[in-house]
Amino acid sequence: MKTFDVYPLYNITPVKAEGSYVWDNKGEKYLDFYGGHAVISIGHSHPAYLNAITTQLNKIGFYSNAVQLPLQQELAEKLGAVSGYNNYNLFLCNSGAEANENALKLASFYNGRKKIIAFKGSFHGRTSLAVGATDDPKIIAPVNQNPNIVFLPLNNEEAFEKEIDSKTCAVIIEGIQGVGGIQTPSPAFLNKIQMLCKLYNVVFILDEVQSGYGRSGKFFAHQYAGIQPQLITTAKGMGNGFPVAGVLIHPDIQAKHGMLGTTFGGNYLACAAAIAVLDVIEKEKLMENALLIGEYIKQQLKGYSGIKEIRGTGLMLGIELETSGEQVRKQLLFEHKIFTGSSSNKNTVRLLPALNIGVTEATVFLNAFSQVMSNQTIQA
Ligand SMILES: Cc1ncc(COP(=O)(O)O)c(C=O)c1O
Repeated sequence: MKTFDVYPLYNITPVKAEGSYVWDNKGEKYLDFYGGHAVISIGHSHPAYLNAITTQLNKIGFYSNAVQLPLQQELAEKLGAVSGYNNYNLFLCNSGAEANENALKLASFYNGRKKIIAFKGSFHGRTSLAVGATDDPKIIAPVNQNPNIVFLPLNNEEAFEKEIDSKTCAVIIEGIQGVGGIQTPSPAFLNKIQMLCKLYNVVFILDEVQSGYGRSGKFFAHQYAGIQPQLITTAKGMGNGFPVAGVLIHPDIQAKHGMLGTTFGGNYLACAAAIAVLDVIEKEKLMENALLIGEYIKQQLKGYSGIKEIRGTGLMLGIELETSGEQVRKQLLFEHKIFTGSSSNKNTVRLLPALNIGVTEATVFLNAFSQVMSNQTIQA
């Protein structure tokens, strides 16, 4: 059997990783400014993380959700404390798409409605409702086409006011759009959504799968706007590579047995990984670090030619170039051994490094980027 060929792959085989560095099977060292797609939050192979998972594995690796799993409660309490959402409840699952799928389903159970408002440039995952709410017709199969989902332009208050009504079930929006090229909903827009959601009893869902877990410099990116959505979804950085995801649920939305469920969600190893991540984020002050180093990178990039705009906050940054970012990313990877991310906006290079990078790693990236950009200018 061969693997199903769904990704264009680089001819690189990572076999070892530590901190912000990855080594391939030929011994070549790479700087990871992509964080394995925003997943690596506390750095590769963090000792506290390795210790938590291996200690747990040596005790018990798995049992089902039919029994008491106190680690889930420990994780919920810690997540409540670190995020400031102490009074919310946590549903644990395995991936970002699954978290959004469950959030949308929960919203519909809650108010009995069907219509969903999503935004242009959005990415919410590849399961049925999540992909239906994703603004990319290429990845929506005919069976996922959903007439209940409406797409509106981001940050357009007027269009939003016209569309939301008492038939609307939920509004789903990313804290910062990732795949869409690092586009941030304005605080005024988020506050307007919150206000109108309350007015019409619509469930407000914040997808923090990519922008959450300290990446923006706050625990959740929407916290810059001072709002409190009813449902918040999280994944990627939550397990630093161990598959774990969650939905934070406002106490007004009450659980009923059978409403949601999962075999693997909230298993011992996932909880051990997620608890270790939160401990490290707190102990090592990674939110503060993300903000500090993110600002440093943004400031330094200001002097570079060929850049149209620098977007984002903390260590979720988008550099929009005047031309395509593809060649720049290839040169960074193959000539300077640095991983970066792409986006649906071809000119935007995404930076999603681990939250504990320092000025040293930032400087390695900035020097390489400067060289690549000056080569581009000469060639042009
Ligand atoms: C904002 C956002 N939501 C949801 C997802 C889907 O997450 P997963 O790939 O874990 O299903 C992603 C993945 O890139 C994402 O960026």
